[in-house]
Formats: sequence, C-alpha cells, structure tokens
Amino acid sequence: MNSSKASLYSENRGIQEAGYMNYLHKYLSVNANDKVLDFGCGTGELVYRLSKEANFAIGFDISKEMIGHARQKHVDTNVSYEIADISNCLETYPHWKGDFSKIVSVEALHWVKHKRQAFQNIYDCLREGGECFLLYSGPTNQFRGHDVDELPYYLKNHTKWKHHLERYKNRFYNELTLEENMQLLKLVGFDGVKGDLHTPCEEMEIFNVDELRRYVSSLVDQIEYVPEQYRSEILQDATEWCFKNFPVNNQGNKYFRRDAVVLRAKKN
Ligand SMILES: C[S@@+](CC[C@H](N)C(=O)[O-])C[C@H]1O[C@@H](n2cnc3c(N)ncnc32)[C@H](O)[C@@H]1O
Repeated sequence: MNSSKASLYSENRGIQEAGYMNYLHKYLSVNANDKVLDFGCGTGELVYRLSKEANFAIGFDISKEMIGHARQKHVDTNVSYEIADISNCLETYPHWKGDFSKIVSVEALHWVKHKRQAFQNIYDCLREGGECFLLYSGPTNQFRGHDVDELPYYLKNHTKWKHHLERYKNRFYNELTLEENMQLLKLVGFDGVKGDLHTPCEEMEIFNVDELRRYVSSLVDQIEYVPEQYRSEILQDATEWCFKNFPVNNQGNKYFRRDAVVLRAKKN
C-alpha cells in the first residue's frame, strides 16, 4: 500500500465506522486509567479517539503507510503508533506483555489466517482484569468473501479478468462463525466471552453509482493485478456487478451485504 492509498482508505472508511460505532460503547468502556492497544489500527482514527478518554493509547499496524498517515494526522502526547504484525507483535515488542487494560481491534482480524495465535497475543498483551473488544468480518461479505454470490468469485471467473487474476490469492479469512470465534477465545483462556452477529451496512445506504465506485476502488484489491490500461474497465465491471447484485433496503437504497462478528472478552 502506498501513502495515497492510505489517504484514500482514511477518506472512505465509512464502512468501518458503520461497523463499530453501534457496538463499541455498549461493549467496552474506556476511562482515564486505561492503557489501550489497538490491533490493526489503520490510519489511527479509532485509537486517537480512544486516547482522549484513556491515560495512554498505542495503535499498531502491519502497514508502514497506514502508520505514517496516523503519525501525521492523529497526533497527541498520549497516543503513539507502531509497525507490528498481529501474528507476532510480542516478538517485536515483548514489553507489551501484560501491559494493557483494554484492547480493541476493528476490521483487521479477517486479514489474519491464524486466529488462535492472534487471540493468544491479545490475551497475552492484556493485564489481569483487562478486556478486549474485537470486530471483524463474519462469513458474509459481498466485496471480499469467497462465496459464489460474492464479488471475488465473479471477477475470478470472468473471461476478461480470470487470467490476470491467476496470481491473485484472496487472503481474506472470514470463515469462522460467531460460535467458533467465541469457542476459540475461551480456548486461549478468556472469560466472560460475549458475542453478536451484526449487519453493519444495512443502514449504510449507497445512493448512486459514483459512490459505489469509490468504495470499489478503495476495497477491491484485485484491480492492482490487471495492467494499468485495463484498470478503469475492471473497476467499471466490478461496480456494475455490485450495483446489480447488492440488495435494496426498506428505503429503496442499495447496501452492501455483510456480517461482522462482534466480541468482548475478559482476562481474569
Ligand atoms: C480495514 S483496515 C481497518 C483499520 C482500522 N482498524 C479502522 O477501523 O479503520 C485493516 C487494517 O489491518 C491491518 N492489518 C492487516 N493484517 C495485519 C496484521 N497481520 N497485523 C497488523 N495489522 C494488520 C491492515 O494494514 C489495515 O490497516
């Protein structure tokens, strides 16, 4: 990812915002004594916001461009941003072990194949009595999922695009159900596991094709696998597919069908 993509992400993160805002404060309260860690903080909006309520907050992300953007745009004395991988962050920052009272992770864990290791790292970074709030894609996701009625399947089988996408591997790991996620959290040692399946985008209406195209260009990474001269064409095809296949809500507007698992757990 380059820095202009990080800015594009930051400008178009309505889907992320729609995902967590309804739940975050119902599931987790942050107060002035808390030290907060955000796993996969992206461009830093959430951890910056939480730093206003907390004693100190750290956001980390695997992408140096995302962290670069966060460091430039969301500055305060009690928030910092680091580059690290959810899968082995304690190898990079061993002093994070047992250091945080609250951990959040929003829309990041579906990029991580080995969920058990990620959950274990979250557990290990928490203090006793600490809590985490996790939200990421569940098994339905029309932009990124693997099912026959989801966009990646359409693009991968499209006569025009399939040979360009031979090298493309869909690294979106959203297969665990809510119950499987909850089981896994218990397995690594968490207590008080609570969960919900949330459909964040039903109320997030997409009013026109231009708006949809903006989402497609920020979310559909297959576009980068086709030669430059065909990129506007694949963007157009993907946008048209979405326009045709996305459902319509009660107000008659298109929305993006997806579910998100929302989890809260405590380390006793
Ligand atoms: C959809 S963004 C969400 C960012 C942010 N939490 C938000 O709500 O806007 C997903 C983020 O997860 C990061 N990510 C993906 N895999 C990661 C990993 N293994 N370790 C740390 N961050 C990762 C990506 O770089 C990206 O910034």
